[in-house]
Amino acid sequence: MDIIDAVRARKSIRGYKPAPVPKEVLKEILDIASRSPSAMNTQPWDVTVVTGEVLDNIRQANIELLTSGVRPSPEVPFHRPEGIYRQRQVDIAIQLFQLMGIAREDKEKRAEWEQRGYRFFDAPVAIILSVDRSLEELKAMMDIGTFVQTVCLIALKYGLGTCIEDQGIMFPEVVRKFTHIPESKLIAISIAIGYPDWDFPANKVESKRETVENFVTWCGFD
Ligand SMILES: Cc1cc2nc3c(=O)[nH]c(=O)nc-3n(C[C@H](O)[C@H](O)[C@H](O)COP(=O)(O)O)c2cc1C
Repeated sequence: MDIIDAVRARKSIRGYKPAPVPKEVLKEILDIASRSPSAMNTQPWDVTVVTGEVLDNIRQANIELLTSGVRPSPEVPFHRPEGIYRQRQVDIAIQLFQLMGIAREDKEKRAEWEQRGYRFFDAPVAIILSVDRSLEELKAMMDIGTFVQTVCLIALKYGLGTCIEDQGIMFPEVVRKFTHIPESKLIAISIAIGYPDWDFPANKVESKRETVENFVTWCGFD
């Protein structure tokens, strides 16, 4: 697959087939992704790959906490975006809700949709990225970003879909309990990965982007 085709084809997949992903395939993807650049070649990504009963335990414990009203406490702080950023967040939510047939006032379906995220969209595998707390956090997050995007692009070559996600790791205590990621590592982000169910309505989403004119400032060209 051509690199530009891959970048254009990648999209967040929120519905998966139950088929397992072979460990060898995941290993190959992660091996190639280890070529991702990082500041001073620090390679700060610690990768925990979770499937089977362990992943089911995490899903179940996430849902128990979420539905009992426990406040999520992600280790990479998250606050509601404002202005144009909030607008874009709302836009993608509207697109997804329309595809899923979720009405704005339908609290039950909205709650079920939220829970799906906390269940890693029922993907057969979740990849959890953590970084050593001794590292400078902002810089390490940039490096994690290069790694995560590379994983998502390579996955396409193997017929796999991905969704980078915060929701699955919103309760880090749950992830730690079942994966034994030590406290010395900050749990940064996760990726749901598996074979896409193309009949799942939300997978038809085409997220929007600003045009280059709207986000680029050219200096010294004229
Ligand atoms: C750091 C990060 C966190 C994300 N967290 C979530 C999440 O918790 N739930 C979700 O449904 N999508 C999540 N996404 C996916 C974004 O919503 C998605 O990338 C964006 O809407 C653009 O759509 P696309 O990936 O289909 O191009 C996340 C993406 C990134 C990069």
